[in-house]
Amino acid sequence: MLAEQITKENIEAMLRVFYTRILKDDLVGPYFIHELGDDLNNRYWKPHLKILLDFWATQLLGEESYQRNPLGPHTLMDDLSPEVFERWLKIFFKTIDEWYAPEAATRFKEKGKSIAEGFMDELGLT
Ligand code: HEM
Repeated sequence: MLAEQITKENIEAMLRVFYTRILKDDLVGPYFIHELGDDLNNRYWKPHLKILLDFWATQLLGEESYQRNPLGPHTLMDDLSPEVFERWLKIFFKTIDEWYAPEAATRFKEKGKSIAEGFMDELGLT
């Protein structure tokens, strides 16, 4: 059943599916494998998934658990391109649509898209 409400529990479960797919993707996967390895249960991914959960809970649920600079690590990846962002968004949209009912899905996707566009702007990729 598609979720009508975005909750911390369903964000956490969705993120695991999303990053499992990201790791398998030929274009986006290597960036993550380079920084964090290819196993979501390893000692790099575990804290990273918690950071991402806090990030989305802060974006969408009014939490204040994420207090970092989300753009930071992306400024150090000097070969990011619009194509990589497009692929990231494509996998993100597909995963969100499999988890959430239309209203919640639209909210989640619009937030992701606008953050991705903001990143691209800041990185000089637009
Ligand atoms: C081109 C697509 C992207 C790639 C290849 C990418 C890659 C990465 C990698 C490898 C890290 C981990 C860096 C580290 O800890 O060493 C990271 C961190 C992060 N990414 Fe992305 N990312 C992309 C797009 C996005 C988008 C669109 C968002 C948000 C909608 C996002 C949100 C974040 C956040 C919140 C962090 C954690 C930053 C922190 O607080 O340390 N990323 N990204």
